[in-house]
Amino acid sequence: MTKKILIVFGTRPEAIKMAPLVKAFKNQEGFETRVCVTGQHREMLDQVLHFFDIKPDYDLNLMVSNQTLYSLTSLIITEMKAVLEDFGPDYVFVHGDTTTTMAASIASFYHGSKICHIEAGLRTHDLYAPFPEEANRKITSAICSYHFAPTTTSEQNLLREGVLPESIVITGNTVIDALLESVALIDSNSYPEIESLKTEFGGVQNMILVTGHRRENHGQGFLNICEALKEIALNNPSYTIVYPVHLNPNVRKPVFDILEGISNIRLIEPQAYPAFVWLMNQSKIIITDSGGVQEEAPSLGKPVLVMRDTTERPEAVEAGTVLLVGSEKAEIVKQTQNLIDHPDLYLKMSLLHNPYGDGKAIEKILNFIKKL
Ligand code: UD1
Ligand code: UDP
Repeated sequence: MTKKILIVFGTRPEAIKMAPLVKAFKNQEGFETRVCVTGQHREMLDQVLHFFDIKPDYDLNLMVSNQTLYSLTSLIITEMKAVLEDFGPDYVFVHGDTTTTMAASIASFYHGSKICHIEAGLRTHDLYAPFPEEANRKITSAICSYHFAPTTTSEQNLLREGVLPESIVITGNTVIDALLESVALIDSNSYPEIESLKTEFGGVQNMILVTGHRRENHGQGFLNICEALKEIALNNPSYTIVYPVHLNPNVRKPVFDILEGISNIRLIEPQAYPAFVWLMNQSKIIITDSGGVQEEAPSLGKPVLVMRDTTERPEAVEAGTVLLVGSEKAEIVKQTQNLIDHPDLYLKMSLLHNPYGDGKAIEKILNFIKKL
């Protein structure tokens, strides 16, 4: 009997990490697969849909400027009802820890579909960091039927919470599948976005790539981060900071207020995925608070300084490629300067590591679902 699969996502990172799953299910006999995007993100989501050539069957188109958690959550739950009733999926796939993940899971639970959670079991064990993602993960875990955990650490987190072992599958992270697919596409095709980056940044020797968006860093955290980046740039004129600035207004205001006009800081728009992969490959050091970048960079051999106090991704920290530096100015400046001034430390942190998988996560997920 044909199984009905609904794949739901809403933000840039979910789209990147779900893209290979969409392709795999669409090519698979025995499944009727539809894609629903909530549109929690718009431009940043559309960049990914375009690159991976995904045409959603349902687009809730919910994003409004500076949206609140209250409105977004309630809209997703309400609007998902019609999609679920129209298609009647047996299985709903959600990913990670966003508001889309949590609210789409609740709606699917109400509808009676079985929820399959990809990137399950990540925990900082601090309900407020990252906020609200740690809560989103726990709520989703509590109501889903199948948990696709990227690593043994994430599996252990779920087991400790009483999740049944037979409902957990360790798969690796699908971001590695997406990254490998993208690197292959980049190698065999020409992308205008990459060509224009090459013109602009091809000659930059010492690039520091920066991204940031975490809600718990909004306000003072971002002011600190920007002051730190300013000091790093002024102290190291032979380095260029390249910063694709997230579209969240809470991020853009402090970033442009403090960093615009500094000659070796280049503020650019969020990049299409292949262009961002090119930037990661070109960079010497990455400074970020992003979850996905923490997973991708070790595969590319790039040292990452994470502007957070905790991480749900301890594997790369243990492997030595990722260092937590918090969101205080002094520590960000100190640890960046350390990497710049100490080639031995730099070499140690830039060893290639792949703690998040071998690019076969989607295959493992598909094999599991086929047997149900
Ligand atoms: C969201 C997720 C976060 C994820 C991040 C990835 C929640 C609560 N937060 O945070 O877990 O790590 O995405 O980037 O689920 N905006 C645009 N265009 C876009 C995207 C965002 O203009 O394409 C602006 C809008 O004003 C929007 C605001 O950014 O209201 C915030 O977007 P939202 O998805 O609520 O929060 P993020 O900070 O993006
Ligand atoms: N990314 C991108 N363009 C950019 C910045 C990031 O395509 O300009 C990709 C990055 O490679 C990673 C994902 O977006 O796969 C991370 O998204 P984000 O940092 O917004 O969210 P998080 O991973 O923290 O949830």
